[in-house]
Amino acid sequence: MPNTTPTRALYMLFGGTGDLALRKLYPAIFNLYKKGSLSTHFALVGLSRKELTDEEFRAKIIDSIAAETENQAQAEEFASHFYWKSHDVTNLDHYQELGKIADELDKKYETNGNRIFYVSMAPRFFGIVAKNLKDQNVLSENGGFNRLVIEKPFGRDFASAKELNDDLTSAFNENQIYRIDHYLGKETTQAIPVLRFGNPMIDAIWNQNYIKDVQITLAESLGVEDRAGYYDTAGALRDMIQNHTLQIVSYLAMEQPNSFIDTDIRREKVKVLESMKIYDEQGVKDNFVRGQYGAGDNTPEYRQENGVPEDSNNNTYAAGKIIFDNPRWGKTPFYIRSGKKLADKTGRIDIEFKKPLVDIFAKGTNQPAELQSNVLTLLIDPKIGISLDINTKNSDQGFHTETVDLNYLQSDDRAAEVPLPYERLFHDILKGDGTYFASWPEVAAAWKFIDPVQKLWDNTKGDFPNYKSGSMGPQAADDLLARDGNAWYFPNK
Ligand code: NDP
Ligand code: BG6
Repeated sequence: MPNTTPTRALYMLFGGTGDLALRKLYPAIFNLYKKGSLSTHFALVGLSRKELTDEEFRAKIIDSIAAETENQAQAEEFASHFYWKSHDVTNLDHYQELGKIADELDKKYETNGNRIFYVSMAPRFFGIVAKNLKDQNVLSENGGFNRLVIEKPFGRDFASAKELNDDLTSAFNENQIYRIDHYLGKETTQAIPVLRFGNPMIDAIWNQNYIKDVQITLAESLGVEDRAGYYDTAGALRDMIQNHTLQIVSYLAMEQPNSFIDTDIRREKVKVLESMKIYDEQGVKDNFVRGQYGAGDNTPEYRQENGVPEDSNNNTYAAGKIIFDNPRWGKTPFYIRSGKKLADKTGRIDIEFKKPLVDIFAKGTNQPAELQSNVLTLLIDPKIGISLDINTKNSDQGFHTETVDLNYLQSDDRAAEVPLPYERLFHDILKGDGTYFASWPEVAAAWKFIDPVQKLWDNTKGDFPNYKSGSMGPQAADDLLARDGNAWYFPNK
């Protein structure tokens, strides 16, 4: 039987009044509380340089969870567990004070000494916070657990990610570190292992003998919005491909783990990520495509957006082809793409199966069209669902085949009940389950794959803008698949 007893814990949230905390983190914690998954033995200390009273902080919490409840008494009871401490993460004295507050709250809330440190701040602070927590003795020493939660991005390349990881692991063990990737908290991502390993019918054909190609699309219709400061130094490749997309790839491509325990799963994810072919310069040119959005019908081009330099060489779109050097996938390409200002907000995985070796119906007297590939689609966003294109007989006069779509779409009512990604991830952190967090070797393998692409793109000028806002990206991304005799399934079919 799974252990469903809510875990007692004290949270310390660095960046306690930041955008992410207010928009996503407090609502997620509140939902856990509402559903009874959070022990009443919990307290949260919000931290940043701001001077706030506990009451002022609690008022912000009540505001931030307003969309999740109409029950004011419940909101106030929840907020009463929140405390504010003005804290500059570079000031060592502040950690001494934090340690004392933590000891008091441990006692008051009987948290068993369990501590969760959530660093929701600019990445340059991740390592500093981890080191100071340890050096200034804020970590629990009373037999409780210490867990460090780190937001994204985890480095800008392999070297900076390694440096960050070395800083974190000088204070915390790998199994105490939870690297957030919110795509791993999404329903469809979490459903991939069940689809694959819970259905022998699917498991049996999950390889290069039957699968022609795999396509992962994480498309956004929004542009850079007000994040130019960060985004112009990151780009689609770092922002969406290195982390979210490659994590999805790892669940799709990994071998069956020995069990559904995080250590077993991570082992398989690392193995498959390390088997991605790393491209040399010519390989990058042949297998990756970058883009930057131009103007739309009534919208500016990227270079005219607030805060973006007029000569920006940043990619707002990236597509690529992954080849695995392993026996399961050797001949099957995985195509990946992500970009801003595209036609649709859609996250999806399209798995295209091979056609029959011989199409006997095409040799019949009545069949005008050839059989289509079976395509299995997993919808991630905004709809959650699964569909399968299969060939069947058309019931009209004569003998023709046609392709029909077997479709399971989650209803809006059901989808509204699905826990938010951060809610799931918080729950897992409390349980100490690292299944849906990126381990260091996975992050390292992903950067090693991405680094040559980023390097070439940094060192050469892109021919930008090269796609219209509201389109599905540059022509070169279609050509990439066409060269292999393939085509993007979405939105063409
Ligand atoms: P914000 O800039 O909104 O918040 C940063 C927080 O850090 C503020 O609370 C600020 O408060 C605090 N801070 C800054 N300097 C110090 C300091 N020296 N000591 C103590 N506190 C300090 O950032 P976001 O909330 O947007 O992002 C936080 C993290 O989450 C980042 O890693 C980001 O990449 C990640 N993220 C954010 C997303 C989002 O939608 N916002 C989405 C995905 C990831 P003060 O000025 O009072 O000190
Ligand atoms: C974040 C990126 O990680 O994911 C953003 O930094 C992007 O640029 C966002 O917009 C997309 O997430 P979602 O869940 O809206 O698809």
